[in-house]
Amino acid sequence: MRNFTTTVSMSGVDTDADADAAREAIRSHEVVHLQVANPLDDLRRYYDALVEAIGEPANIDEDFRRGGAPTGERWLEIRYDPDIPDDEAFRYSKNAQPFHTDESYVSSAVGVILFYCVSAAPAGGETVFISGRQLVEELQAARPELFEQLLTTPVTYRKADDFKHRPIIEIADDGTVDLNFNYFCADPDQAPEALALNQAFHDYVERDYPRELVLEVSLEPGESVMWHDDRTLHGRNSFTASEWGDRFIWKTGLIVPVAA
Ligand SMILES: [Fe+2]
Repeated sequence: MRNFTTTVSMSGVDTDADADAAREAIRSHEVVHLQVANPLDDLRRYYDALVEAIGEPANIDEDFRRGGAPTGERWLEIRYDPDIPDDEAFRYSKNAQPFHTDESYVSSAVGVILFYCVSAAPAGGETVFISGRQLVEELQAARPELFEQLLTTPVTYRKADDFKHRPIIEIADDGTVDLNFNYFCADPDQAPEALALNQAFHDYVERDYPRELVLEVSLEPGESVMWHDDRTLHGRNSFTASEWGDRFIWKTGLIVPVAA
């Protein structure tokens, strides 16, 4: 059974050894916090080498001024920008972001997401996670009718030219939980029962899910967090910021090879 989370201490100098430790941890945990022992002078060079050594990084960057169209770049910036209205794009705002999966509309999903932190917010801004396995247990116990709908009703999530149409929760024969959900990316042109389920699940995770089961990861500059996008939900706490780049994170996706 997969565990929720662990922390791995990275050397910051031996990329191959660090990648081996990170890969082993993410094979058996939903969320892995990577702390770095030595201060890094070139974060991009280290993290490029790290993700290439862990697995197969993907070019996930999107141009938010062109409706989220792919740019072909590996790293996507998440940076507070006071010149962009807070309600225009989460990646430039200081608002809390509700729980979601990143690849809800990505038909060729890669599965694992990694954030590395350049600068941390003065206060707040933690990345928050819900374990897919714990979520299923809670739904079965507290909301069995909602759980049944989540397993059986397909919902369409769409952005730019890409989309997915499937139930929000799928469970494989071996019990692996597979989640697909982003409240704000639901295609408005779909069955009313699908849109109602998108709303009901959003309300459940934001309002009713036990807060003590939510993991908060606070990243210091140079640290990173990687997670299985389809086995967890993630979001963000609001934060204080006034200057451009007060909170600054780079994100990519990667395919992690299964154990030999
Ligand atoms: Fe996200």
